[in-house]
Parts: sequence; C-alpha cells; structure tokens
Amino acid sequence: MEFISVQEALNKKKGKVAIRGWVYRERKLKDKVFLVIRDSSNVIQCIVNSNNTKWNDANKLLIESSVEIFGDIYKDKRAPTGYEIKVEKLNVVHFAEKFPITEDQSQEFLLDKRHLWIRSRKLTAVMKVRSTVFRAIDDFFFKQGYYEMPPPIFTPAGSEGGGPTLFEVKYFNDKAYLTQSWQLYAEASIFSLEKIFCISPCFRAERSKTSRHLAEFWMAEVETAWQDLDGLTKQAEELVSFIVQEVIKNNSGDLKILGQDIEKLKKIKVPFPRLTYTEVLKMLKKDGIKIPWGKDLRTVEEDKIMEHFDKPLIVTHYPKDIMAFYKPKDPKNPKVALCFDMLALEGYGEIIGGSERDLSIEEMKKFLKKKSDNTKNYEWYFDTRKYGSIPHSGFGLGVERVVSWLCKLDNIKDAIPFPRTMLRFKP
Ligand code: 4AD
Ligand code: MG
Repeated sequence: MEFISVQEALNKKKGKVAIRGWVYRERKLKDKVFLVIRDSSNVIQCIVNSNNTKWNDANKLLIESSVEIFGDIYKDKRAPTGYEIKVEKLNVVHFAEKFPITEDQSQEFLLDKRHLWIRSRKLTAVMKVRSTVFRAIDDFFFKQGYYEMPPPIFTPAGSEGGGPTLFEVKYFNDKAYLTQSWQLYAEASIFSLEKIFCISPCFRAERSKTSRHLAEFWMAEVETAWQDLDGLTKQAEELVSFIVQEVIKNNSGDLKILGQDIEKLKKIKVPFPRLTYTEVLKMLKKDGIKIPWGKDLRTVEEDKIMEHFDKPLIVTHYPKDIMAFYKPKDPKNPKVALCFDMLALEGYGEIIGGSERDLSIEEMKKFLKKKSDNTKNYEWYFDTRKYGSIPHSGFGLGVERVVSWLCKLDNIKDAIPFPRTMLRFKP
C-alpha cells in the first residue's frame, strides 16, 4: 500500500491507511501504547495494542523515532486531531536516542539545538508561512510582467550607509563586502529589463541585539523604470495585501498553531493609511512624545504611532539628511526626500523601505562627501545617470520582518531556519 501524508489520512477519515513519520508524543500503558505521529503535514494519534507482533518495539520507542504505520483510521474525539489509527503493522525505521529537547527550555538552548528544534510544530508552521510568502512575492511580480534577476553577493561597496554595517570578506588578494542590498545593481539593470525583482539574502553587520535585526536576512526588492513615489507606494501596499491574503488562504492551520488572529489579518487590504514624517511627529506630539524635526524615528516611536492603526502605515517624506545618498530631494521641499517606509502593526516595525532614485550625480556626490563616504567606489553607478537617465524607483521588503508579523513571533530569529545575529552564526 502506498504511503499517504498524515493530513491525507485525516482527510480520508476511515479505512486502511499507510503513513510514515516521527514519534511526536508517546504514552506507554500496560496493555497499549499511544503514539502521536507527526509528518510535515500534521499529527495523528495511533494506538498499538499488546497483541501486536511489534509490541516490544512499540514499547522501546522514544520521541523522534521514525516509523512506518499501517492500520485502520477512525474518528475519535479524544485524539489531538480528531482521528486515531489502530496500528496493524508497525515498522521502526530508526530508534531515536533520548531527544535533548524537552518542555520549558530556554530560548538560547533552543537556538543551540536549532538543527533539532526546526522539527517543532511551531517552526514547521512558521516555515510553511515563510514558503507562502516567497511564492506570493514571485506570483505578484510575475503576474505584472516583472523579470526575476538576483544580485551579486560580493560587492565592492555598500549601498546603505556602508562603513560599520558592512561584512568584509577576503577576496583573493583584495577585500570585498557581502551585499547589503541589490539596489544599485537593480538600478543599472532596469535599463535592460525595466521591471525587475529579486528575493535575495542580504548581510548587515548591525551591532543591534534587537528582536528585529538579523545579520543575514532575506529581502524582496523591486525596481521599476519610469515609476514615481506615488506608483511605488501603491505597489508596496498591493504586494503586502496580496502576501497577507495568500497566507490566509494557504496557511490558516499554521496561523492557528501560532496563535494568530486570522480575522484581524483579513482586514489588511488596500488602501493603507499614509502620513508624512512631519505628520507623524505631530501625531506623536499629541501622544506626549516630542521628537525634534530631523531625527529618525526609533522603534518605540514607530510602535507608539502604530497604536492608532489597524493596517500597515506608509510614512513618506523623511528628512533628506538622515536618508541614504540615493534618495532624492523633494523639489517641492528640499528638506525631505521622495521616499517611504511601511510600518507593520503591533510592534513589528519597518517592513519596507523604498524611494525614488536621485538622478543628479552632483547631488549624490555632495551627499556622500558630507558623510565622508568614498565616491570613487560609486563611479560605475554614476554611469547609469549618464546614458539615457530616466526616473525610476524601488523598494525592499524584509521577508523575516513580514514573517515575524504574520506569525506573531516574539523574535525575528524564529522567522528564518538558521538565524545569524551579532552573537550567533551556529549551528
Ligand atoms: O530600509 P532598507 O535598508 O532599504 C534598502 O536596503 C533599500 N536599498 C531597498 C530598496 O529600495 N531596494 O531595508 C529594506 C528592508 C527594511 O524595511 C527591513 O524590513 C529589512 O529590509 N531589514 C532587515 N531585516 C532584518 N534584519 C535586518 N538587519 C534588516 N535590515 C533591513
Ligand atoms: Mg529602512
């Protein structure tokens, strides 16, 4: 008989089934052994009676042993997923040693044992949501005629402020840096493909031990020829709304395991609210928080402002001076840049950053020099403004930030299978 997944067995409801997986829980009584078996799809309770020819094997099974089971499935209200299999044949593929992870272990211990904890129902659910997020991003852009074009990972210079947040690597007899963002290469490439996106790893040596920062994370980036800030923010809200609706459609069971409120997520539909940076400061002032104009918003302030909203917020026109060198001045108000961030709800912070791109080589050079950055490294990039320069714009979405928010995670580390942070690059 062919093996089916646990979920397929549950769907079948009655009759003979063959499943395989791992022992998730076991309870041994005098005359029967209860096994909860898990596979990637779900869990199901199985019962082995003492007259089974493999009764001795069943009694030796520890958690995470791998087994093949054949038997009758039937409804049982007491079982964790409502059905039970009466085991006729049991084949132990591997008797597991005593599993080191038991209940109530510290976050650090679980991170040390990540190669085993990845099997947990929680992380399994998160990784399924993450997979949907990746697919939704692909679907969204392909449907709109975009080309996927991943970036180089070794780069000669940073794009996001460079310096201390760059990971330096030995590159033969030279030194290179791991990419912080695909953007500069994307800007060069729109002259060929016009509409491009990628989902790629990014690396930032950020010395912050927050629940929102990873040293290696995945960013979905998009760059579009001829597009202005207005079109850009519309695209960003449509993308996020699409991702959320796809996750609801494909992962409602996972969201339930993770304790996420699906009804709340259903409301995440376009249009999203929009405020300028200056309007945000005014709103915060009413909340009793005074920020001098020109200072970047800190996470506490982002969290405070989000208490007023039930959809992600698009904040536009941040002060030019605190933005990356490629974000252009607003011609109507040169103190602000034509840029935006999207802030998620409930303290999950900035999920997207994007902007129109400066077309003036002179302005960009002036800005880089002011921040004492080396303009020589960007000469190739300035070339893109010399041959048929056009208006264009793009943004980057932090995949793990979005996954954290959708999965209601306490820490971004659980939004990626093997997290790398300032303090950890193992296992
Ligand atoms: O706002 P950022 O720095 O924007 C850029 O890198 C642009 N070049 C993107 C572009 O326009 N093509 O990063 C974009 C997003 C942030 O909004 C955040 O969600 C995420 O990437 N992000 C991080 N996620 C996890 N850990 C980190 N250390 C992150 N840094 C940024
Ligand atoms: Mg940003």
